[in-house]
Amino acid sequence: MSDFEVNSFYELIIHDLVNRGYSVVDCFFTEREIDLLRANFFMKQDLQVFKKAAIGQASEEQIVEEVRGDFILWLNEQTPDEVEAMYFQKMNEFIAYVNRTCFLGIKEGEFHYASYPVGTGYQRHLDVFHKDTRRTLSVVLYLNEKDWTPANGGELVLFLPDEEGNEREEVVYALPGRLVIFDSKSIEHEVRTVNKPRYSITGWLKTR
Ligand code: OGA
Ligand code: MN
Repeated sequence: MSDFEVNSFYELIIHDLVNRGYSVVDCFFTEREIDLLRANFFMKQDLQVFKKAAIGQASEEQIVEEVRGDFILWLNEQTPDEVEAMYFQKMNEFIAYVNRTCFLGIKEGEFHYASYPVGTGYQRHLDVFHKDTRRTLSVVLYLNEKDWTPANGGELVLFLPDEEGNEREEVVYALPGRLVIFDSKSIEHEVRTVNKPRYSITGWLKTR
């Protein structure tokens, strides 16, 4: 690790992940980058290529409106536009750092845009599938409008153990520019009903 340079911002995230399984940061991307990502999100959404999200994987996929109400569009790392390329570059830089310091063996990321219409949410779940356990870290970046307030709903709720081993709820507001990273294999979570359209890029860092 001769040319290794400590990145104190990444270290903060990693410290959170190791100690409590999740991290919430508000300046992973600059405000300008968030503006670009949001504009790009709306541009893609206008093309009407988002699809109703399913639950389960491959042949087991099903669309269950009450469980999950978002519409998604997968990003393609092979054919990114300029703004997506910036997103991938930042994510890949973080992945490289995590691999050098935590030996998590992250091989790749998969990411989709997600749009939750008013009245929808995503019921309590875990992000790993029974037959595919490669998802290691879940990464959600909120691209909501700048005037987003808690009254808009759509909170991400993480179900965590407290000191006595009982369950506690950590409520995370979907503030624009906020990035939430959490352990895909152990942290159950839900998206509470949204009162205003809710936009994000959600992804997973996966092992081989
Ligand atoms: C998911 C998910 C959380 C969020 O897409 O699996 O849990 O806050 N998203 O959007
Ligand atoms: Mn999830």
